[in-house]
Amino acid sequence: MTPTTAPVSLVGVRHRYGRGPWVLDGVDLTVESGEAVAVMGPSGSGKTTLLSILGLLTAPTDGEVLVAGEPAGTRRRGRLRAEWFTWVFQTVNVLGHRSALDNAALGLLARGVPRPVASRRAREALAAVGLASRADAPVVELSGGELQRVCIARATAAAPRVILADEPTGQLDHATSLTVLDALWAARRPETALVVATHDPEVAGRCDRVLGLVDGRLTERTTP
Ligand SMILES: Nc1ncnc2c1ncn2[C@@H]1O[C@H](COP(=O)(O)OP(=O)(O)OP(=O)(O)O)[C@@H](O)[C@H]1O
Ligand SMILES: [Mg+2]
Repeated sequence: MTPTTAPVSLVGVRHRYGRGPWVLDGVDLTVESGEAVAVMGPSGSGKTTLLSILGLLTAPTDGEVLVAGEPAGTRRRGRLRAEWFTWVFQTVNVLGHRSALDNAALGLLARGVPRPVASRRAREALAAVGLASRADAPVVELSGGELQRVCIARATAAAPRVILADEPTGQLDHATSLTVLDALWAARRPETALVVATHDPEVAGRCDRVLGLVDGRLTERTTP
């Protein structure tokens, strides 16, 4: 049996902005295929910074990001970023005049997937988040929770190796958060890893591992 290579790891990562204090100060993290990892920590502790380093949006000041066990060198970063990662943000970002289907297909079209294939996969992803009947509605007609589910469909339709979610339920009420979380867990493929920055115990409770980010370092927490 060949050992599986983790989709993304951080090795000795330190990061600071300009000459500011160290936001991350020695972070080692291996995210395994298919696992859901929650990162919790106070505001300003560096959760968004950690996700953007994992997703190759920010290059760490020190240390290394490995994608499938290989250092994500400067030359390959753009391609790796597009091929391996998709994002769900706290604030919904959609094209308001376009349909839910068009929005869910955006990531696939950006990867050069032909429109008929992108549309079929986007429709499947919308069905997985419970929005099959709303696929052709303009997103201006959707509720906040439905919009976040469109964003989840967009992130999952591309079948990424890793979904990075930055406080995906941060702006939703409790009941809506639950439907959004159900959608994320239902739509995610078994092999897709999820790393989610969150203050929400409900999110952390669904994850396989909960990590605390304090003073620039990660600690394993037991699931609440
Ligand atoms: N682009 C930037 N330039 C300078 N400082 C930054 C930048 N982005 C973040 N910081 C600082 O880095 C620290 C960590 O910020 P980060 O956004 O990663 O925290 P966070 O844990 O995501 O916080 P929150 O829970 O409020 O979203 C903060 O002190 C923040 O002010
Ligand atoms: Mg943040």
